[in-house]
Amino acid sequence: MAKSKIQFVCQNCGNVSPRWSGRCDACGEWNTLVEESADTGVGSAPSASRMARGHAIEMVSLAGNIEKAPRLPTGIAELDRVTGGGFVPGSALLVGGDPGIGKSTLLMQAAAALARTGQQVVYVSGEEAVAQVRLRAQRLGAVEENISLAAETSVENILATLRVNKPPALLIIDSIQTLWTDTADSAPGTVTQVRTAAQAMIRYAKKYGTILVLVGHVTKDGQIAGPRVVEHMVDAVLYFEGEGGQHFRILRTVKNRFGPTDEIGVFDMSDEGLREVPNPSELFLGERNVTAPGAAVFAGIEGTRPVLVEIQALVAPSSLGTPRRAVVGWDSSRLSMVLAVLEAHCGVRLGQHDVYLNVAGGYRISEPAADMAVAAALVSSLAGVNLPTESVYFGEISLSGAARPVSHTQARIKEAEKLGFGRAVLPKGSLSPGSKQGKSKKPRIATSLETVEIRELSDLAARILAHDRRPTPAS
Ligand code: TYD
Ligand code: MG
Repeated sequence: MAKSKIQFVCQNCGNVSPRWSGRCDACGEWNTLVEESADTGVGSAPSASRMARGHAIEMVSLAGNIEKAPRLPTGIAELDRVTGGGFVPGSALLVGGDPGIGKSTLLMQAAAALARTGQQVVYVSGEEAVAQVRLRAQRLGAVEENISLAAETSVENILATLRVNKPPALLIIDSIQTLWTDTADSAPGTVTQVRTAAQAMIRYAKKYGTILVLVGHVTKDGQIAGPRVVEHMVDAVLYFEGEGGQHFRILRTVKNRFGPTDEIGVFDMSDEGLREVPNPSELFLGERNVTAPGAAVFAGIEGTRPVLVEIQALVAPSSLGTPRRAVVGWDSSRLSMVLAVLEAHCGVRLGQHDVYLNVAGGYRISEPAADMAVAAALVSSLAGVNLPTESVYFGEISLSGAARPVSHTQARIKEAEKLGFGRAVLPKGSLSPGSKQGKSKKPRIATSLETVEIRELSDLAARILAHDRRPTPAS
């Protein structure tokens, strides 16, 4: 037998290198190269003798009939929204998240929900003993007859067991990092092992129409530990996120071959497991302190769903040569941009001030539409003026200082109305979409809110400062 070739695989990015080195050439991570045999695993080329046995496959026209992907909704609305209306039979999902965030809890609840509709579910735990999983299921009220449980890590054993019985509707593997297979001779948890094990499980799922859910742990820097490669192999990747000390959790789609990728599901971790949060705005605005300056409510959008959150700013004179800028929950370069626009176009001097920005409740915003709310919070904090408590803010700010309309104006306004706000501060032109080109077909958005249309950011700053009783800080 030929001597198997040795190669070194980066456990962070999967890059293969013929020599060991302390640092991966591809991703720059230190101490991530691990010795693996080149002849095993999915990446290795088939031998010449096997290639000779290939046979012709049947080609079909792209323009064939398609059946709509049938779906198995779990009945957990927040989960079904994120998957795009339910699990698709024969598809593979990866659920990633930090340890202890609640992945096993979520999946046990999903398993119970599907089992209650008469579907067969198999839950394979590679991390916990059967008794531990049973204990959690009891706590969650998820003890269902249709859920078969096993504590196992060998892919061969799992597949052999599955072959004995009828293929289940849902198969949960908790977690992919614990699986190992005889066909790859690297240590469990290495890229080759995880990739080979995941591929074997995915092959089973596609063949028997089983929904496969793989759990993956995430490293500190937000990557699924080691097996980033698995992300490419599955049909959907969901991330389960939450901030330390906060009890709510957000399920986010990163990739979805069968649905939207910008939806979120919001849950609340309680003593009896995860509870759905149908109205996240109420949660994020729940502990609002309405009397402090520097707080502005932003009407945001996550996917198709409006989410209202409070943006808090603290602007204080700095004792440092280079003032401090700290941001939690938003993009720090976006903050620098808003600060620069305030300085350049609005006469708001922040060069001698420390600036802290926080999105309340540990929520994270990715939209540029938060620019206006951030600017309002900054000016309000600097001037020591409370913003009107009944106002919501949204809109993008360009480098020229102009306020630019953003998408989903109607949904944002509706949500603000629903939650009892009385006023929306928004870019000019938001209410009559498309009118600039002179070919507007859409009617003007009607609302019961008082609307304040802003053309330039300086208008907004001036409006806020006009309420100031102290001398303007801009000198
Ligand atoms: P778990 O699902 O085990 O996390 P993961 O699988 O992502 O590692 O959840 C662990 C945490 O959730 C643990 O700190 C306890 C907490 N928890 C509750 O608060 N309530 C519950 O009903 C359950 C089952 C767990
Ligand atoms: Mg777990």
